[in-house]
Amino acid sequence: MKIGFFDSGLGGITVLSEALRRLPNESFVYMADTLHAPYGTKTPQEVRGYVKTLVQTILKEEVKALVIACNTATSIAVAELRREYSIPIIGMEPAVKPAVEMNRANGKRVLVLATSLTLKQSGYAALVSRVDDHGSVDSLPLPELVQYCEQLNFDRTELFEYFNRKLSSFNLDIYGTVVLGCTHYPFYKEILKELLPSHIQLIDGSQGTVRRLKQVLSERNLLASPVKAGQSQEGHVTFLCSSQDEAYVHKMERALEIYAEHEKIYL
Ligand code: DGL
Repeated sequence: MKIGFFDSGLGGITVLSEALRRLPNESFVYMADTLHAPYGTKTPQEVRGYVKTLVQTILKEEVKALVIACNTATSIAVAELRREYSIPIIGMEPAVKPAVEMNRANGKRVLVLATSLTLKQSGYAALVSRVDDHGSVDSLPLPELVQYCEQLNFDRTELFEYFNRKLSSFNLDIYGTVVLGCTHYPFYKEILKELLPSHIQLIDGSQGTVRRLKQVLSERNLLASPVKAGQSQEGHVTFLCSSQDEAYVHKMERALEIYAEHEKIYL
């Protein structure tokens, strides 16, 4: 059986890429909600409806676990989905906790980049107040970055200009960590590393999410057995999208290649 992944669009591929690396024996089905992306600028009611429909479709693929590779969808719908379905559902939230811990000793601040919708949820406020006892967390939505990513736009000049404009009101010297709290954003890790002062560390939720996925599969005895020598690994990711658009399926394959190259992972 496969592991299901979904996101509004290409973002969840950053998590899928980590899963392919850590769980090489598994097969995956990845679904993008091309009919409704982006989620981050919609209302909670809209996103709840989109996610419900998308999950119904992806579950027809008979998946053994579901990863919500989207911080926005998780913040809106994870509780409801867990009530409704008995398969393991792994969600994502901005990696605020590890970021705060990384800066406890140096007194630096944390900047969380995520969608407007994620940042507006009570779950996000609760997470910050639970882990941040010094009021050291700031946040910034970057809706245009989702659009850049969906166009696979990596134009350095345009992106440098964009980030510089967005970050112009922040004194970056006082920040120790930037949290990439939307799964689309890690596509721009390299550009951000170049642009931000060198003392700033970047963190995203994909490693923690895949660690959790592996743990849950192992606890339930659902991990796939190792692939035998000579057995083909080809086709172990199936890409689907809600608009059933062949060109977008190719775009997802390309995005996985691009991200793997960025990560220097050769699948
Ligand atoms: N990639 C998603 C997230 O992690 C959603 C981006 C969007 O659709 O606005 O929040």
